[in-house]
Amino acid sequence: MAINNLKDLYIEELKDLYDANQQANDTVEKLIDAATDTDLKAALERSIDGTKEGNAQIKAILDSHGEGVGNVTCQGMKGLTKEAEKHVLKEKYGDDSVRDAMLISQYQRMAHYAITGYGSVEAFAKRLGALEDAQKLETCKEQTMEGDLEFTKLAQGSINEAARAA
Ligand SMILES: [Fe+2]
Repeated sequence: MAINNLKDLYIEELKDLYDANQQANDTVEKLIDAATDTDLKAALERSIDGTKEGNAQIKAILDSHGEGVGNVTCQGMKGLTKEAEKHVLKEKYGDDSVRDAMLISQYQRMAHYAITGYGSVEAFAKRLGALEDAQKLETCKEQTMEGDLEFTKLAQGSINEAARAA
């Protein structure tokens, strides 16, 4: 189906983001098993909950426009999850802290993709006058940004230093 206007684009991007979130969560589940630092594991668990909540909001928004979540495959997140799994799960590490540092680096690539996704649909919703949608999407964006910041703190607080000293 052709994307003819901003409303069509909005719906399409919501579906893309929904799929991106699902793909990210599938990979984050695997990253939890690979993580060593207990705070890092906990942050990953919280991120899964946050992403599920985000997808519940996206689904509700799509519903309110008479749309389902569709069967869009987000190629961007597909690439990012592939890269994360390759680096974190397949590469060999001499020390667990180095893997944890890589894990954060890969996780944040996925998180930032979601943040830009939320930012775009929030802007589209505002322009379309769908202010309730925009509010919800802004909250999702901010929660994802706050979650992302936790990973920066973990990296800069102890994990990068542990990897340096390994
Ligand atoms: Fe995408």
